[in-house]
Amino acid sequence: MHSGVDEDADDENEGDHDEGHDAAIHVLRLLVDETAATPLRMSVSCRSGADVTTFQAETSLISERLILSPLRPEDAEEMVDVLADETLHEYIDGHPLTFDELRARYRELAAGSSRPDEIWLNWIVRRRSDARALGTVQATITGDDAMRTAFVAWVIGVSWQRNGYASEAARALVMWLRKHGVREIIAHVHPDNRASAIVAARAGLEPTGDEADGEQVWRTAVPPPTMV
Ligand SMILES: CC(C)(COP(=O)(O)OP(=O)(O)OC[C@H]1O[C@@H](n2cnc3c(N)ncnc32)[C@H](O)[C@@H]1OP(=O)(O)O)[C@@H](O)C(=O)NCCC(=O)NCCS
Repeated sequence: MHSGVDEDADDENEGDHDEGHDAAIHVLRLLVDETAATPLRMSVSCRSGADVTTFQAETSLISERLILSPLRPEDAEEMVDVLADETLHEYIDGHPLTFDELRARYRELAAGSSRPDEIWLNWIVRRRSDARALGTVQATITGDDAMRTAFVAWVIGVSWQRNGYASEAARALVMWLRKHGVREIIAHVHPDNRASAIVAARAGLEPTGDEADGEQVWRTAVPPPTMV
């Protein structure tokens, strides 16, 4: 049975699980076990129809220092402080939410999109060493079997910024999406948001000349269609 953890992004670090930090790992295991109990699956076919893979919204992604665990409504308790700073909204819409507002929002996100052609995937970015929540990453997947597109975004709490966490989390997310057959990955980045542009580039996205609501469109290069 699937463990709910996708460790392929960081195979060389698997041994870290056994080296101390027992309490933190126990918390991480609980997070993984809880989320693994409620699978949300969908099939994604590549253009050739030959390669069918499966999305699992409950999957935790592991990188060198981070675990991305699927967002749950109860994460609002920890995240309300992580996201409390107004400066996080310098280049993105909104403002810091109260605990009640954030929990209501997380309930909506965890319930998923009501549209059959759209999937919402949201993860809490946690430090593996102590399970500390640092931020979030998200992917909204649209399209049909012939061409899936993921719109991605990232936020790291001010206290943990400039440690490479967003770059590491975004790389793990983009690798996972590509591995699962998403051919086009897009981020909308405000032209003055230098940090986010660096994160997008490190995740393998490239700036385009396109603009959406005043933001620059960054996207992965689309690989050529598979020859049948
Ligand atoms: C964008 C964001 C996620 C980056 O998080 P982070 O964990 O600090 O990112 P990283 O540590 O991976 O840093 C990426 C690069 O940006 C640089 N950087 C970070 N903050 C910066 C800032 N305020 N101004 C300029 N550069 C900055 C880092 O120094 C790093 O470059 P370096 O490795 O050459 O030093 C974070 O600033 C944030 O949450 N911003 C608010 C939300 C947001 O705008 N999200 C983007 C939506 S598209």
